[in-house]
Amino acid sequence: MAGTRGEFSSRLGFILAASGSAVGLGNIWGFPTQAASNGGAAFLLMYLLMAFLLAYPALMAELIIGRHAKANIVTALRQVSGNGLTRFIGSLTGFAGIITASLILAFYGIVAGWMIAFAAAPVAETVGAEGLASWLTDFGNERNLVFMLIFMLITSLIISGGVRNGIEKWSSRLMPMLLIILMGLIGYVLTLPGAMEGVKVYLLPDFSRSFNFQLIVNALGQAFFSLSLGVGTMLIYGSYISKKENIASLGRAITLIDIGIAALAGMLIIPAMYVAQHNGVEIFDAGGKLIAEDTLIFTVLPALFDTMGSTGVVIGFAFFVLMTIAALTSSISMLEAPVSYVCEVHGLSRRASSFLVSGTIAVISVLIALNFGDLFGLVINLTTRYAQPLLGLMLCIFAGWIWHRHQVLAEIKAGFEQAEQSLFWRIWPVYIRYVCPVAILTVFGQKVLG
Ligand code: PHE
Repeated sequence: MAGTRGEFSSRLGFILAASGSAVGLGNIWGFPTQAASNGGAAFLLMYLLMAFLLAYPALMAELIIGRHAKANIVTALRQVSGNGLTRFIGSLTGFAGIITASLILAFYGIVAGWMIAFAAAPVAETVGAEGLASWLTDFGNERNLVFMLIFMLITSLIISGGVRNGIEKWSSRLMPMLLIILMGLIGYVLTLPGAMEGVKVYLLPDFSRSFNFQLIVNALGQAFFSLSLGVGTMLIYGSYISKKENIASLGRAITLIDIGIAALAGMLIIPAMYVAQHNGVEIFDAGGKLIAEDTLIFTVLPALFDTMGSTGVVIGFAFFVLMTIAALTSSISMLEAPVSYVCEVHGLSRRASSFLVSGTIAVISVLIALNFGDLFGLVINLTTRYAQPLLGLMLCIFAGWIWHRHQVLAEIKAGFEQAEQSLFWRIWPVYIRYVCPVAILTVFGQKVLG
């Protein structure tokens, strides 16, 4: 089916789609809360290091393999393998990637559903539907399932539209909206009393914490999750890039946008917490640590919006719309990984594949939602703490050891005539072969042991 494959219409189209994949709940929720509880700018600094030193090279491995093979992750890894054994390992790695992407989507869909429900709640309140508003914000099976299904349906409708009419079209609409809402919210929150204290906490690094090993591990995990690595999403997006584009500069742009938006989101969430404190909302837990994770998003921030009267309704709505958009442009990329495989290898139409795959993932989501206490944290841990770094490692091994070096170099050169004079050319091939695998293994080993 190679002749009928889609391709992004332009450089900008790819940048919006891939940065849409990268920028998600990981940036707007994960990064700020990790920064808040890990020494503010000290975490930011370590995150920058991990993103540039390890995640960017791994991202390049996925993009380069994808564009060369012009195929889904399973076919692509088989294609760059030289013999039967490596082809088999390629298939295994590819399947593991697709399954991981699907499982990430299964929990991500539940969380994204909460975002839609929390965006709808202020609207319900405004029209006087108090009962509905509390149903929307109270944790419950019915609400969790309904909104997860709505979110999955939207994701699958976009993916069934294809590369240009689905992924690119919607990323190009949603990403500018995301940026506008984010900047608007930051601008507003920074004018409120208490915000400057949050800015200080965020931007003045507490260096006593920056060189602790756990912080490095967290920063690396965050960088891999945030750049959507290891599960074939960046690989498949790379496969839709034209051979005329300079792939090294595209990868750099995605990394910079991803980091930039995470850093900006910190300027929203952390000051907002201190505004909340100023308005009488508790922001420290019993142990004296800043409240993080779900309590921060679904308790502290809504409590802040409540203290702001009618402005709070608008701000609360805008905030959860921002979260929903961020989640959607990421979830479509997660779904594209398995859907492209089913289309290309089993010859199903894109429409049929996207409904079949998203339906299957929705069933897994239902299982997770109904066994929330047992499965939710477990799936998040398995996929993001273990599978993603290990798969990232495998992709570095494919790009650095298994795939023929001259083909790797030829792929970098396509669309980048002066490649041989660039720093990237001199450093990346060696780097991906030695430094990345050793560093990822070290960090991963530490994680498992400790
Ligand atoms: N990068 C996304 C985020 O930050 C998550 C993601 C992981 C997307 C894996 C695709 C694949 O939220």
